[in-house]
This record gives sequence, C-alpha cells and structure tokens, in this order.
Amino acid sequence: MSEYMHLGAFLHGFGHHQAAWRHPSTNIDSEFSFEHYLKLTQIAERGCFDLVFLADSAGFRDWDLEALRRMPRVAVIEPITLLAALAVSTKNIGLVATASTTYNEPYTIARMFASLDILSGGRIGWNLVTSTSESEAMNYHLTQQIAHGSRYERAAEFAAVVDGLWQSWGKDAFLRDKASGLYFDPEKLNTLNHKGEHFSVRGPLNAPPSPQGKPVIVQAGSSEDGKALAARTADVVFTAQPNLAAAQAFYNDLKGRMNAFDRAPSALKILPGMLPIVGETREEAQSLFDEMQTLVHQDIGLAQLKDLFGGFDLSSYDLDGPLPPIPETNGGKSRQQLLIDMAHRENLSIRQLYQRTTAARGFLPLVGTATDIADAMEQWFTQGAADGFNIMAPVMPRDLEAFVDHVVPELQRRGLMQRVYSDKTLRGRLGVPVPVAA
Ligand SMILES: Cc1cc2nc3c(=O)[nH]c(=O)nc-3n(C[C@H](O)[C@H](O)[C@H](O)COP(=O)(O)O)c2cc1C
Repeated sequence: MSEYMHLGAFLHGFGHHQAAWRHPSTNIDSEFSFEHYLKLTQIAERGCFDLVFLADSAGFRDWDLEALRRMPRVAVIEPITLLAALAVSTKNIGLVATASTTYNEPYTIARMFASLDILSGGRIGWNLVTSTSESEAMNYHLTQQIAHGSRYERAAEFAAVVDGLWQSWGKDAFLRDKASGLYFDPEKLNTLNHKGEHFSVRGPLNAPPSPQGKPVIVQAGSSEDGKALAARTADVVFTAQPNLAAAQAFYNDLKGRMNAFDRAPSALKILPGMLPIVGETREEAQSLFDEMQTLVHQDIGLAQLKDLFGGFDLSSYDLDGPLPPIPETNGGKSRQQLLIDMAHRENLSIRQLYQRTTAARGFLPLVGTATDIADAMEQWFTQGAADGFNIMAPVMPRDLEAFVDHVVPELQRRGLMQRVYSDKTLRGRLGVPVPVAA
C-alpha cells in the first residue's frame, strides 16, 4: 500500500456521464476551449491531485449516425497538443496524455514525450494504449484492426524501443564547457541500434534527457496480454473495476506478476476509475444522479453497448429481456467481459445494463455524501484494492469541484491524502523508482 492515496483527474469534455453536455450547469462552448481544460486542471491542482489524464482515439466513432448525432466528443483537441499548453500553464500537477502503439512510431513518441517532460519540468506521463476501434485502423492504411494479440506484441517492442531511446544520454553527458569548447561527451551517448520484428530504430534520441529519469508510463489494458505488458513496463495502471472483490482480485493478480520481472509491487500504482456524485445528503446526491439519467437517449445506450461489445448489435432483442451470448471481440476484451459478468451477476436486462453503462461505462459510481465517498475510497485503499483512484467527474466542472471541496479535505483529515506537493517530479510523487541511466 502506498503512503498516500494517489489521485488522477480524468478530464473528459463536459464530464463522463454520456448526457453531461445537456446538463444546465455545463457551458456548451467549453468543449473546444483551452480555458476549460486549464480550469479543470487548476481545480485538480488545488485538490493536490497527482495528475490529470487525457484519453484519446485517432478515429471518428464507428457508431450509427442516428445515435452519434446525440453525442459530444465526435471531435476532440488532440491530447499531446493540449498537454503542451497545460505544461506551460501549470506548476505542480502531473500531466498524462494517451498515444497509441498501433498507429505511431516509437521514435516520434519518445521524442514528443521527452520534450514535454522538459517543458513541464518532469511532470509528464504517457498512457500507452494499443487502441480498440476499427475506425482508427482505417485512418492508418488498414481495412480493419490487426488482431488483439498482435497489437500487444507490437506494443511490447514499441515500449522497449521508447525506453531504450529515453536512455540515449548517460549521466553528465552534456559537458557544455565553454573553455574547452566541448559540448557533450560521446562516451556517454547510447546508440540503441534496435532491429526487431516490428521496428528498426538506430537512435540515439535527439531530445534532451528527462528531468524525472524518464516520463511515467501509464497503461489501461486489463486483458491477459494487457496485464502482462503492465507488469513488465507500467508505473501506473488505470482500470475499470465494478466492486471491491473484483478490484482486490485484479490488484493481487497484477502485482503478483511483477516479481517475474524483478519489480517490487510498490513500483506500480493501480488506480481504478471512480465517478463521484457528492451531495450534502444522500438524497441530494441520488437526485443529482437521477437527473442525469433522465437525459440519456435509448439510441445512445444501445450504440455504446454495441461499441463496447465489438460491434454486436442488441437493438433487435427484447430490451427488457436478458443479455444474449456475446461473441468475443477483437476490440477491448476486459471491459466486454466486465459488462457481461455484471449483467449475469446482477440479472440485468439489456435496458438496465445500458443505463449502467451510459452513467459509468463499467467504472465505479459513488453517489453519496463526502463521508460516504471517503469511506468507500478508504476501504478500497486499505483493503488491497487500489493505490488511489482515477476520478471521473460525471459533470465537469461541477462534480470535480464538489469532490475537491468536500471529499479531498475529508481524505486529508484522515491522513489518506497529501496536503502539499512534496516532490518536483510526477515520478517522485508517485514513489515509483527512477531508472538509472547508463
Ligand atoms: C481509465 C481508462 C482509460 C483508457 N483510455 C484509453 C484511451 O485513451 N485510448 C484507448 O485507445 N484506450 C483507452 N483505454 C482502453 C485500454 O487502454 C485498453 O486498450 C482496453 O482496455 C483494451 O485492452 P484489453 O483488451 O487489454 O482490456 C482506457 C481504459 C481505461 C480503464
């Protein structure tokens, strides 16, 4: 268990609830505005969060246009670009952006994140994803996604190349000695010379060394392949876990795999996603939640299930009947399984399942008072289910602000959360080891 709970703020346009954009409190012009993201980041920084996180997909959603026309996030600001702006506009908080290993080249990613790490003074993390949608494949020369297992094989080699490139400059490589006229020491230059199955990269990286040793690696795949890659390479793992028992099983499973790679369990922080709706009373919190649910259109519910079920369409089934057998997807495997298990375990109809999904997409919703929410978080943290949480405010900024104003002080009062930023770098604050450069 970490000394303190680590908190991330998962920024997401108007909020994580599918109907957030229709809520009276959200500013309809904010979605494409830098000020909106800066404001959310400043709220999280005020709450002493370790990081903010930006997700990404490099494709238009594959949904039916009839459902899609009711959705925001059909166009988003590219996250690495947004992160660069946030890096120079904030002081303390960690900044994590997503980039796919399926549709990028490792040299480009190593270079961009190393540069962001400089601009931010050592606060950058890369959310390494393998991507899950067909629409992304079609933007990168393919007619369909490559197979799930092959995406992860490419990702493992990709991560190793990026890691190698980030070690291009050894300790004290930059002499910058005006008197002798020597700028750097070639002896301290590590040229990668990588030749593998997917990539051929000579190196070295022509970007400066990272202030935090190397940028933090975040991952969010929970399939067998996803866990294997995370156990070997990740500093932080985001995950969707619907209840304490499932979260504990995932936590033990993933940390148990690290020994094989000579890594201490504490070198990786597991942050399940959580959607807080805080009220002064439980009744108030519940009515805030119910209000959101009335704004969801049925087409969106079904389109989202179709997306999470790898294109399997449920619209011709009785929506008040049980979930039929769902074929295995080539998209994201772990979330599909989570939803199928949830439907079976709780005997949910298709309609009840999509109502759950539009609200929380399989992540944990916590609806209650600040004390209720802090109690649940404390339980997960102290009972081996989480090293912290990725906070997914359903309506933004409203629910992020309420969390920071009411739940954070309660967690700090209990000694569960930091009150100040203790270390300059994200890696230092997370307490994940700094790799030693050759
Ligand atoms: C909190 C969270 C955030 C994620 N963000 C992204 C993202 O931005 N882009 C993406 O392609 N996948 C994202 N994913 C999906 C995972 O990275 C992964 O691709 C997906 O879970 C499928 O992997 P799996 O088959 O190993 O479960 C996210 C998952 C979680 C839990």
